[in-house]
Amino acid sequence: MPTLLVCSATDNLRVLADKMADEARLRMPDLKVILWPEPFDPTDVLAVAAWHPPEGLFGHLPNLRLVASIGAGVEHILRCPDLPASVPITRIVDEEQASGMAQYMLWAALHFHRGFDQMAAQQHQSLWRMPPQTPACDFTVGIMGLGRMGLQVATCLHGAGFAVSAWSRRTHTVPGISTCAGEAALAGFLSRLDLVICLLPLTAQTRGLCSADFFARMKPGAAFVNAGRGEHVVMADLLAALDSGQLRGALLDVFDTEPLSATDPLWAHPGLIITPHMASSASDRTIVRQVLDNTCKVGLGHVPEHVMDRDAGY
Ligand code: GLV
Repeated sequence: MPTLLVCSATDNLRVLADKMADEARLRMPDLKVILWPEPFDPTDVLAVAAWHPPEGLFGHLPNLRLVASIGAGVEHILRCPDLPASVPITRIVDEEQASGMAQYMLWAALHFHRGFDQMAAQQHQSLWRMPPQTPACDFTVGIMGLGRMGLQVATCLHGAGFAVSAWSRRTHTVPGISTCAGEAALAGFLSRLDLVICLLPLTAQTRGLCSADFFARMKPGAAFVNAGRGEHVVMADLLAALDSGQLRGALLDVFDTEPLSATDPLWAHPGLIITPHMASSASDRTIVRQVLDNTCKVGLGHVPEHVMDRDAGY
């Protein structure tokens, strides 16, 4: 019986797998949904839906026709050495996830623009002092990465009155947003911004991009937000930029190792706000629908939707 294998080496996907099985019973009664590591026949596996798939899984699935990430990112799948070259890898594309990201970034932009970071520190000192208040159009937010999420963040912040710039790998034209592309444009882009938001996919080109040189090129006193992947940031360099006052603060939602250990000194750094990879996630409803649609498509020999570009790495 064709099988959809739901798997993660890091997270418990029981609830998602149950929802997938309930929906499959209605829509594709011939499909068996198995939550790894329950027993399964490797020759039956038609599709894998994964978040950080377990090591050595893909080498034993001779009839695999789809690998579906259950999130927007795919780097956790691409790092599997036994991933078959010819099987399509899909990602979730969820407008609600993009809206959630825009809301998170609106909060971040308001936090730094209106000086709520200073207010929180002053409240500890019972200090009544209004920080300089400026119109949002005088506060420039730069977004790195103009995929679906970056675009929605840019549009939302522009709608809220902020001056918005965006930097991406390929050139885009977005009404009301000043855009630039490519490595040569990065330094100029960074130097103009009051707040830099990293929403890049993790690729060989973007890993470690936010390093000492990057932070040195930012406008002195600007703030930084990372909701891409932890590996975009060289943490020692970010901390040095915060400690020297080059950066005024940073909001981090993603980390090299998640969950962040309870003993990690980052928790106590006064220049950091830490959130637990909650900026936005795809809803189970969308994941179930898109994974089952694509499983059905590959079962019929059709091309699935939202296939990532292996050359680009995302
Ligand atoms: C979240 O990090 C995702 O990749 O969807």
